Amino acid sequence: MITWKRLLPERIAGRFALLLTISLVSANLLALAVLSYERLRLDRAALIAREQERIVSLIPALEAAFPQVRPSLANSASTRSSEVTVGPTPLVKRQGDTRQALDLADALTEALGGRDVRTAVRVQRDDAKGGKRMAVAASVHLVVTEGETTQWLNIRSRGRRPSPPWIEEGAFLLILGLSLAAILAVGLIFVRRLTDPLTELAKAARAAGRGDRTVLVQTEGPREIQDAATAFNDMQARIARFDAERMRMLAAVGHDLRTPITSLRIRAEMLEPDEGEPMISTLEEMTVMADELVAYARGTGESEALRDVDIHEVVERACAERGVPFKCGDPATVRGRPVALGRAFGNLLDNALKYGNTARVMMTLDADAAVVEIDDDGPGISREKRAEVFNPFVRGDQSRNPDTGGAGLGLAIVRDVIAAHGGSVTLDNLPEAGLRATVRLPIRR
Ligand SMILES: Nc1ncnc2c1ncn2[C@@H]1O[C@H](COP(=O)(O)OP(=O)(O)O)[C@@H](O)[C@H]1O
Ligand SMILES: [Mg+2]
Repeated sequence: MITWKRLLPERIAGRFALLLTISLVSANLLALAVLSYERLRLDRAALIAREQERIVSLIPALEAAFPQVRPSLANSASTRSSEVTVGPTPLVKRQGDTRQALDLADALTEALGGRDVRTAVRVQRDDAKGGKRMAVAASVHLVVTEGETTQWLNIRSRGRRPSPPWIEEGAFLLILGLSLAAILAVGLIFVRRLTDPLTELAKAARAAGRGDRTVLVQTEGPREIQDAATAFNDMQARIARFDAERMRMLAAVGHDLRTPITSLRIRAEMLEPDEGEPMISTLEEMTVMADELVAYARGTGESEALRDVDIHEVVERACAERGVPFKCGDPATVRGRPVALGRAFGNLLDNALKYGNTARVMMTLDADAAVVEIDDDGPGISREKRAEVFNPFVRGDQSRNPDTGGAGLGLAIVRDVIAAHGGSVTLDNLPEAGLRATVRLPIRR
């Protein structure tokens, strides 16, 4: 089972070509076998008919001739494959019982009147050359004048060796080759028309998996392909609506929280400072959280249009706004949303400045991606915590105080934005101290 599977081509086109080839070759071989069997049958029937005709025309001549000339007459009637003799005994001792022998005997008896006729038809092995040949033997008792000794006409013929079916190898292979080429060409064009939309669909599904709701596929081609494409496009539209709805709700909640927080704050300010201050600081924390919630809801920039963005420029601007040194190679173009990307890099820089005090940024270009590294000299993040901090509302213990305020949504936004651009973001602790955030974004060449 496993070995069979391994032999099977991986792609539809390969499998289809294999299937076509196997069926065409076997159909042609079958036709060849049927044809050569039919030819063999016709050859044999022709041999029997020829012998029958010869005997029927020889008999009157032999009977009319003088007995002395009969042997030479018979001799001159002989050919390479057929031996004719006249003698006192019949060559065929007993009438053969094959259907062909009986048919020949009947035909001869009918044509030659009451003469004694014996025939034998056999297929015999040709020892000298190999293969099988048909042998026809017939003996006819001559009607001669009285007083003469009994005389028999004996004929022994051998059919041609059946030609092997591959005798016209060249022609057969040419026809097979041409028809195979024609069918494969048409078949592969057809398969491409099926697989191209499939490849496109797979690509679109991958992009959709990264969060890109703008990719749609063309609804063309055969019905099933159209169905799949329509289903995909519908799914994209539904998820986009769902995403937008969810984000609108988050933004609304974040926004609506501000009013009650503000009115609580006004009341807290009227209290005695030792009672009011802790309340105010908690309320400030809540304000930050509400603001970040709104930022998060808008952050992934679903509403922003996709366009060609110079990623170098985006990073440079984010660095310049925060006074962070930026070391860079070359400009590179990314298909994406500049505001969302700017926010993502801004969040990483803010974190580096907040938790690590200093930030350094370096950008390099890979074969197919821009790699941006943001280093700081802070405490880094422990291995267990590193995967978690990307989840919304996850914050480190040291981040409890409102000075480093945030709601734990910064890295969640980074992850969403970068993933929607087909990229990845990872965190690693640097060997000496500090954290390195590495962002990879696929670029357009
Ligand atoms: N450069 C950094 N160095 C150390 N810890 C970090 C760094 N960046 C993020 N963190 C940790 O990850 C947590 C989550 O970060 P983030 O999602 O940006 O939320 P916030 O900054 O609002 O706390 C932070 O609270 C902090 O504990
Ligand atoms: Mg942050």
